[in-house]
Amino acid sequence: MTSIPAILDEIRQKMACAEDRGKAASYIPELASADLQKFAISVCLPNGEQWSTGDSRTPFSIQSVSKVFTLAIALGRYGESLWRRVGREPTTKAFNSSQELEVRKGIPANPFVNAGAIVTTDMVLKGASPAEALGGILQFLRVAASEEDIHINRDIAASEKMTGHKNWALAHLLSAYGNLDHSCELTLGTYFHQCAIEMSCEELARSGRFLAGFGKKDDLVRQSSVKRINALMLTCGHYNGSGEFAYRVGIPAKSGVGGAILAIVPGKASIAVWSPGLDEYGNSLLGTAALEELSNRMEWSVF
Ligand code: DON
Repeated sequence: MTSIPAILDEIRQKMACAEDRGKAASYIPELASADLQKFAISVCLPNGEQWSTGDSRTPFSIQSVSKVFTLAIALGRYGESLWRRVGREPTTKAFNSSQELEVRKGIPANPFVNAGAIVTTDMVLKGASPAEALGGILQFLRVAASEEDIHINRDIAASEKMTGHKNWALAHLLSAYGNLDHSCELTLGTYFHQCAIEMSCEELARSGRFLAGFGKKDDLVRQSSVKRINALMLTCGHYNGSGEFAYRVGIPAKSGVGGAILAIVPGKASIAVWSPGLDEYGNSLLGTAALEELSNRMEWSVF
C-alpha cells in the first residue's frame, strides 16, 4: 500500500497542474492578493504522527474555520441552551445572506453561517471584554494545536470592519430581534478579529485533533460536543455547498474564505488543506478536490 506521505505528495503534484484554481476572496485587499499557486495539506494521525506537504508552514487567515472553535467554547459554556439562539439546520442561502435570518425571525439557521457565528461570538463575549474573549479563543487554539505562536492579523481585522457591510446588516438584524447581548460594535469587533486569526496548515490540522477523538476524552470539550460539532460540520460546514461536499468527500469539514478547510475523520485523522482559490460558494476549490482524492485513496469516510 502507498504510504501517506507519498499519497500527499501525489495529490500536491496533481493540484499543482490544475488549470482552474478558483478565485481568491475579493472583499478585502489582504485576501484578494493571495497567491493562487499556494497549496498545503497536513494530516495528523492518532499515534501522534503528522504528515504534511506543500506550503504547510505558511500562515493564512483561517476566517470561517474559526467558527468551529467559538462553537466549541460556547457549547462548553452554555450546553444545550445555546440552541435557543441558533438553529442546527443546513441552508440553501449564501454564508452571509440576511434573507433566511428574516424568515427565521432572528434565529440563524446554524452556527456556521455568518449570522450564527456572530451569535456564538456574542455568547463567548458575555462577561468578558473583547480582548478577554479573543484571548480565550486564542488560548483554546494554542492548547488544541500545541502551538504558542498563534496570533491575530490586525490589518485583516481592520479591513473586515471597514468592508463587512453585510455583517453589520446581520448584526443589526440580530439586535432588532433581541438576539445580541452586546452592541453590534462590540460583538462584530470580536467576530472580525476571530476571523483574522492566522495559522499554518500544520497548526490547523493539529487543532482539529480533539474533534477526531485523539488525546484524553473530554480534554478540551465533552465527548457529546465532539459528536455534535462534527455533525454540524458535515451538514452545514460548507454552507449551501455542504451537500455537494458531503457527497464528494464524505467527512465533516469546515471551510473559510482564506482557502482553508479543516476536515475530520473520526478516530482516524485530522486534516487541514489550504489553497486560496474559491468556488462559487466561497469554499476552497482545490482544497475540496484534494480532500476528495485523499478520502478516496485512504478510504476515509464516515459512510
Ligand atoms: O465574515 C465574513 O464574511 C468573513 N470574515 C468570513 C466568511 C467565510 O470565511 C466564509 N467561508 N467560506
